Amino acid sequence: MTIPLLDSKAQNGVLEGELKAAFERVLRSGQFILGPEVEKFERDLAKLARAKHALGVSSGTDALLLALMALGLGPGDEVLCPSFTFFATAGCVARVGATPVLCDSSPVTFNLDLRDAARRVTPRTRAIIPVHLFGQPADMDAVMALAKKHKLFVIEDAAQAFGARWGDKPVGTIGDFGVASFYPTKNLGALGDAGALLTQKEAHFERARILRVHGMEPKYHHQFVGGNFRLDALQAALLAVKLPRLAAYNAARARHARQYTARLSRLPGARLAMRGDARIAPTVKEKAKLILPTVLPEGGMIWNQYTVRVPDRRETLRGYLAGRGISSEIYYPIPLHEQACFAHLGYQPEDLPWAHRLAGEVLSLPVYPELGEAQIDEVCAAIGDFLRG
Ligand SMILES: Cc1ncc(COP(=O)(O)O)c(C=O)c1O
Repeated sequence: MTIPLLDSKAQNGVLEGELKAAFERVLRSGQFILGPEVEKFERDLAKLARAKHALGVSSGTDALLLALMALGLGPGDEVLCPSFTFFATAGCVARVGATPVLCDSSPVTFNLDLRDAARRVTPRTRAIIPVHLFGQPADMDAVMALAKKHKLFVIEDAAQAFGARWGDKPVGTIGDFGVASFYPTKNLGALGDAGALLTQKEAHFERARILRVHGMEPKYHHQFVGGNFRLDALQAALLAVKLPRLAAYNAARARHARQYTARLSRLPGARLAMRGDARIAPTVKEKAKLILPTVLPEGGMIWNQYTVRVPDRRETLRGYLAGRGISSEIYYPIPLHEQACFAHLGYQPEDLPWAHRLAGEVLSLPVYPELGEAQIDEVCAAIGDFLRG
């Protein structure tokens, strides 16, 4: 049995008729960038996310960049963000000329360690970017409290978490801006690059809307220097086919995650991540062989990834799974504070000990909606054989 990490052919295959109809509609319309397809998608997106405004943009990365530009962040400003995340989070901060202040992560949730972030606030800190990593909401109560105390802007990087909730609030609608990505591996995946920016604030929306088209308003009058962050009509039309199915995709992922946890937690040496883990020194050697992801009671997790920690022999397990036809992935093998492009920031690996350690332990297993029970059985059996072997 071969088990991929993601099966986009299975997901898109059953929608082929509808996707082709959407393509043909755009083909015949002659309007390929922005326009009515994008506007309709934005309205549907805002409704689903309970956001006042949704702006369709070219990618999640561009949504981040646009948010930072709309808030006027630049040279001399510091922006707090996790080190253990996808590169774009901090990359965009550097691209506007601001300084990413990289913070440690919690080994329980894989999200920003707010106590570490609080320690790194200086008079130059202007914003914080919590990332809802793997679909698990960051602790937005703690983020908003820190932001209020120090008058920081909040950009929620919900690239992996569109549709997740913190308490009863959809992520992406709590801070100043929320960023969504529709990269094909996301729970709502386009057939190419696409993203969105969410906001509840009229002034933020207006500024971002104008910046999306080179800061141009009206035509050929440029009030600010913006960029081309426009969404293609084709991607909006294709995404509109999948948007009504997002809740079902998320529910299937959650079902798979529950099955994994129920089965894997019975294996020798396996245990669930616990809140107390955040207090353990990251240098302490872990007795568990397999640590399973936990959902916080406040968090409506959408399981973009089912990520386990393998304190010893992660690479060996990955190779063993590959030998049995099971794909897995390491998100992310090098934390951002150890990346060559950020060497000038002067971090040592052990400055952010959990980010460093998590990069060496994490392994993401297949959790895509179309996964079957027999495949989950096979993944769990293979991990069991490995742990016992
Ligand atoms: C946490 C995070 N932020 C930002 C992005 C950027 O999104 P995109 O790939 O759509 O540019 C991603 C995408 O992988 C991501 O995972």
